[in-house]
Amino acid sequence: MIKQITNIDEIKYLTNTFHSKKKSVGFVPTMGALHAGHESLFKKSVSENDITVASIFVNRTQFNDADDYKNYPRTIENDLQVLEKTGVDVLFLPKHEEIYNDDYRYRIVENSLSKILCGSSRLGHFEGVLTIVLKLLNIVSPTKAYFGEKDYQQYLLIDGMCKALFMNVEIVSCAIIREKDGLAMSSRNLLLTHDERKIAPNFYKILRNAESTSLAKTQLERLGFQVDYIEDLYRRRFGAVFLGKVRLIDNVQI
Ligand code: PAJ
Repeated sequence: MIKQITNIDEIKYLTNTFHSKKKSVGFVPTMGALHAGHESLFKKSVSENDITVASIFVNRTQFNDADDYKNYPRTIENDLQVLEKTGVDVLFLPKHEEIYNDDYRYRIVENSLSKILCGSSRLGHFEGVLTIVLKLLNIVSPTKAYFGEKDYQQYLLIDGMCKALFMNVEIVSCAIIREKDGLAMSSRNLLLTHDERKIAPNFYKILRNAESTSLAKTQLERLGFQVDYIEDLYRRRFGAVFLGKVRLIDNVQI
């Protein structure tokens, strides 16, 4: 049975014990509503470390929209099954009040990459992400921490933060896991209506195949997507779109 811990001192004590026994600790932070994308991170961590810790924490400070936070899918029963199945040893389930004991007075600000792509339309999003990830890394003190390329901008920012702050952790990136029809797996896919779900795979197809970002934008809009951005950067094409109320992001190598 997976060990569940909510208390910060308790998880710190546990991971310190592992380190004192010279055991490597892998860490996979998540917001729950676990799917095969998360599973691939757990599996990689389990295969590369003596102990794997996962966390589930729907981090309020990274949501720029209160409804998005409220509606974020919460599926703890299913999540526990996924964690058991993939061999995760410890689940950390922190409480908002304990994590933000400073009322979010202290936060991590990055002044370049966090201001473009998702950062320009979701004000404060990456401050919330970087702050929670720093707190979690300090609490769990993992040997390696795993992040998906589905959120490539997030991965780059976290890796950059750990290097800038000389943190004692290796950040590992993991390939994007997709549905059979190409749609990148995401907890938010659960919020799509039946009709939206049928259109959604075109996002990946167009991102991959369109000859330019402006052609991609036109093709997506014709199908009913509301485009937030499509941009080519770092030899990748990044996109964010709305289908109804649901925001989807993806990126492909070009
Ligand atoms: P969440 O969206 O739950 O994602 C947790 C991790 O799973 C992230 O590193 C994300 O990139 C990865 N992931 C999600 N879908 C994936 C897919 N289809 N293929 C590969 N990896 C995938 O990202 C967050 O939570 C939060 O911002 C967090 C880092 C936990 C901070 O709150």
